[in-house]
Amino acid sequence: MDDVKDTKTALVTGANKGIGFAIAQGLGALGFTVAVGARDDARRDEAVERLRAAGVDAFGVALDVTSDDSVATAAKIIEQTAGRLDVLVNNAGIGGRTDGGAQDPTTLDLDVVRTVIETNVFGVVRVTNAMLPLLRRADSPRIVNMSSNMGSLTLQTGPPLAAYAPSKSMLNSLTAQYARRLADTNVIVNAACPGYVATDFTGHNAQRTPEQGAAIALRLATLSDDGPRGGFFDDEGVVAW
Ligand SMILES: NC(=O)c1ccc[n+]([C@@H]2O[C@H](COP(=O)([O-])OP(=O)(O)OC[C@H]3O[C@@H](n4cnc5c(N)ncnc54)[C@H](OP(=O)(O)O)[C@@H]3O)[C@@H](O)[C@H]2O)c1
Repeated sequence: MDDVKDTKTALVTGANKGIGFAIAQGLGALGFTVAVGARDDARRDEAVERLRAAGVDAFGVALDVTSDDSVATAAKIIEQTAGRLDVLVNNAGIGGRTDGGAQDPTTLDLDVVRTVIETNVFGVVRVTNAMLPLLRRADSPRIVNMSSNMGSLTLQTGPPLAAYAPSKSMLNSLTAQYARRLADTNVIVNAACPGYVATDFTGHNAQRTPEQGAAIALRLATLSDDGPRGGFFDDEGVVAW
């Protein structure tokens, strides 16, 4: 008998708080073993403890999505611990500084753009490509990219934020690229919009709870094999690109 793990394993990046923590908790409640990706040791340990106290089979993975070394080491840890990866939720994201017109397009601070793209876009590519070999070992691998309707060129929601919004537009475009590249495989990739959610990110100035924001990610992480590919979804259905 092969020593194959029955439990499915999910990695959530930026899982120590906010929507990522709620996704980790939700996937845990669905029976996944959850790899809690977080860059800060203390915050990661605390999140793992909280998840375990809630009955989730969780383990911590040091993960800074802006670091090649960190991401490569995280992939090794997941391989050693679980042998494969069933679900990847690319949730880690930053809004970037806005003071002094830093994200006003007419006074745009390009260092802020670089920083935001490094996390929100390059971070997703870095983590996805490091985890793909492990995802390909799963029967029904799923990748969920946490985007935002602020990245929708059709909807153009929220105030102008000329680093953050384009970072999510690019993430949406990349989601489509991955889905095209992986069309002939069992790896299903989609982008999700959580809505406007009360987290540190929004200064807790929003109506939706992290659990509500997590719901669409849980749905896309558990799509059936004939589920949609390369789309952009929220709780209401398809979000316009
Ligand atoms: N809140 C909303 O209304 C809203 C709306 C649309 C989309 N989103 C998206 O949803 C995702 C989660 O947002 P949130 O509201 O939960 O934000 P949050 O509470 O600020 O949490 C962001 C998470 O990302 C992590 N992170 C940031 N940079 C990282 C890096 N380099 N490496 C690893 N982890 C990193 C943070 O870790 P630290 O604790 O170490 O900083 C934290 O765990 C983001 O992608 C965001 O763009 C949020």
